[in-house]
Amino acid sequence: MCGIVGYVGFQDCPLILLDALKRLEYRGYDSAGIAVIQNGRLLCHRTVGKLINLERLLLTQPVSGHIGIGHTRWATHGAPSEINAHPHVVDKVAVVHNGIIENYVALRQELEDKGTRFSSQTDTEVIAQLIALYLKEGNSFEEAVCNTIARLEGSFALGILCADEPETLIAVRQESPLILGFGEGEYFIASDAPALLPYTKKVHFMNDGEMAVITPTGVTLKDFSGNLLPYEVTEIPWSPLLAEKAGYKHFMQKEIFEQPRAIIDTFRGRIYPNKGEVVFEEFNLSQEEIKEIEKIWIVACGTSWHAGLVGKYMLERLCRIPVEVDLGSEFRYRDPIINKKMLLVLISQSGETADTLAAMREGKRKGAKTLAICNVLGSTIARECDYVIYTHAGPEIGVASTKAFTTQLTVLYLLTLYFAKRLGKLDEMKVKEYLSQLMVLPGKIEKILDDTKSIEELAIKYSKVEDFLYLGRGVYFPIALEGALKLKEISYIHAEAYAAGEMKHGPIALIDENMPVVILAPKGETFEKIRSNMEEVLSRKGRVIALTEPECQEIAAKAEDTIFIPPLENSFLKAILLTVPLQLLAYYIAVFRGTDIDQPRNLAKSVTVE
Ligand code: AGP
Repeated sequence: MCGIVGYVGFQDCPLILLDALKRLEYRGYDSAGIAVIQNGRLLCHRTVGKLINLERLLLTQPVSGHIGIGHTRWATHGAPSEINAHPHVVDKVAVVHNGIIENYVALRQELEDKGTRFSSQTDTEVIAQLIALYLKEGNSFEEAVCNTIARLEGSFALGILCADEPETLIAVRQESPLILGFGEGEYFIASDAPALLPYTKKVHFMNDGEMAVITPTGVTLKDFSGNLLPYEVTEIPWSPLLAEKAGYKHFMQKEIFEQPRAIIDTFRGRIYPNKGEVVFEEFNLSQEEIKEIEKIWIVACGTSWHAGLVGKYMLERLCRIPVEVDLGSEFRYRDPIINKKMLLVLISQSGETADTLAAMREGKRKGAKTLAICNVLGSTIARECDYVIYTHAGPEIGVASTKAFTTQLTVLYLLTLYFAKRLGKLDEMKVKEYLSQLMVLPGKIEKILDDTKSIEELAIKYSKVEDFLYLGRGVYFPIALEGALKLKEISYIHAEAYAAGEMKHGPIALIDENMPVVILAPKGETFEKIRSNMEEVLSRKGRVIALTEPECQEIAAKAEDTIFIPPLENSFLKAILLTVPLQLLAYYIAVFRGTDIDQPRNLAKSVTVE
């Protein structure tokens, strides 16, 4: 996620902007920049890499001014580079943006047809170009902004300057967060509270559809049609450290709660529900090339490997293409049978995992087409693969992967629909149905996140236990694996997951009155089977924690504890939904055990060694 800051007031602002950007560094970024208005002129400095590079540039080429905007960029469209860094400056306009403009390709084409020449590959430049165009047509700064945002589809938090009105900063919020800060005779904007705290705790959290016109004399809040809006200024109670986590206790907790937004950002701009269509800007195999695929390999590690196992169910069920999933650390030592009629999919949040990278290189060497599903733009695996589809989860700081996993599953779901449509396995109507089900998923996850009390109580009850079993069938077996890994990683409790049908082949010997068994038992084709597995556990006095749906009361009646998930028809999406309570259970148990949740012992966020 990008970071935005802005300042209007009596102080010289470049170093204030730089300091505020430093307080947003935790969000992750690959380039940065500031723009200030100095004696009526717009001056802009941008650098790739860390903020120290921008700081050095400001030392050698200082700028000065009482109004400015700054930005740290987490690349989504266009590789990390100076030309793609923000602020984007067109004529007398400078723009910083956080979010995704869904219709930027069409807008860019429209402007290029009018003779506009673009200098970057970003969606953001379209905004600066449009404002500049409307200014040229005689509109005021505010009118030009209103006309522009009326054309935008998607999410955008904006900070905008215009040299024609050197004392005015305009801030806009639509789906991406933006906060106004109220100092003594000075005003601030920021994507997140930590940037503001050293200067003021008095803020207004902007709402969707709000535009703030900020001058040294004050703030006017309007809607996108220019109508005045009231606003309230509240006091942030957080310490700067707590603010980095937006008030959450840990990055992992924040990232669990960011999942609805991350999933929306991952499918946004890639689905056309009315047309029953999925498109990937960065991946466009032709129908013939897709039909040529004889087998799909999915290779990954850890949580990403679990995502691959879920992907196997999706792709085989809907596309009828054979899929084999392997661990990165095993793949290249088994002399895999690969040829150019195979697609090798590498799943990696960091895009730097050594075992997965080595597997990708082995697959390429043997002639496979390679597709990366990555969260970090420009990462090694993303760069070296033939194709890449990014999860737009934003930086994942917590070592235990959460939003990266559910956005990987979202991408795999979209990829499955993409292939199935082109292979003629799903018609337009069916794809429309699958897409409409996907669009309700974020809201279902919100419902779970809105009330975690019962899961917190369960966590207290079981936080002293030293062994757990997790059971699942079908597409829910990889989810059981993921739930067990989450618990292992952050609470250090020994937790194993099994395909539920496998219990009778040995693991059932572990069952007794001291063994909690988490059983994923949603409605569906394996429900009767999983119910009898639960009976097996109960008959040996095992303690069952069931995850199921409200209508499955017979499960709840027999389980010692039950976590209900909102009802959802689609088993693939239900797999994503079931992940969230398992993440929360692991998180709260770890909280009560007092472990280092964001940096668990012995673990690294990206395992760049074999
Ligand atoms: C997940 O919670 C772990 N941190 C770990 O298993 C991780 O998924 C694995 O190391 C793979 O990382 P990657 O997705 O960045 O390749």
